[in-house]
Amino acid sequence: FETGALAGKKVVITAGPTREAIDPVRYISNHSSGKMGYALAEAAAEAGAETILISGPVSLTPPDRVRTIAVTSAQEMYEAALHEADGSELFIASAAVADYRPVQTSQQKIKKDAAEMTIELVKNPDIVSAVAALANRPFTVGFAAETANLENYARGKLERKNLDLVIANDVSDRTIGFNSDDNEVLVVEMNTSEAIPKINKSILARQLIAKIAEMTNPTK
Ligand code: C5P
Repeated sequence: FETGALAGKKVVITAGPTREAIDPVRYISNHSSGKMGYALAEAAAEAGAETILISGPVSLTPPDRVRTIAVTSAQEMYEAALHEADGSELFIASAAVADYRPVQTSQQKIKKDAAEMTIELVKNPDIVSAVAALANRPFTVGFAAETANLENYARGKLERKNLDLVIANDVSDRTIGFNSDDNEVLVVEMNTSEAIPKINKSILARQLIAKIAEMTNPTK
């Protein structure tokens, strides 16, 4: 792992979950811990990159030498990501963005008078697809959390979202992914794929950053 591998490059990473407000006290979210994204930001900074970490609500300490932008909702993450990614060299979408948000957010706490209630949801914008569609697009990396057909779904995401690389992991295995300190991934490119066996997330992050640095700057 070369310390200068990403020197002079601007790297933008999304991490953690998003929260979609129902009312002032309630929200829809998921179990993402942010650990993989924070480890990637630390590794990118170590590799010499100007590193921007756009983070949903997590209980992690922001890494040194990383500019962290705290966001809450998918829409906030979208705006920060598009703003920062424009003109950057590398974008890594490790956030577990909520797929839907409530159509309406109540300004007052909703009372529990009704026996039944329905929350209408609308789809959130796809952040990584929007970054990959920028005219001046960075090298764009997505994640795929799947419970089956890992490689097929990852390859589908690579093509549909127009990504350069997809890092896929099996979330049906509780010992890896989400809240775990370890991860085991399949790195999927257009014509090849590489399995990286179960390893600590910070070691994996360094391996992934080294691979991405090599792909974006193969002569170095
Ligand atoms: O489509 P799916 O959510 O499975 O794709 C996962 C990848 O897309 C991840 O890299 C995730 O960060 C990104 N994503 C995004 N914006 C969304 C949904 C997913 O950037 N609204």
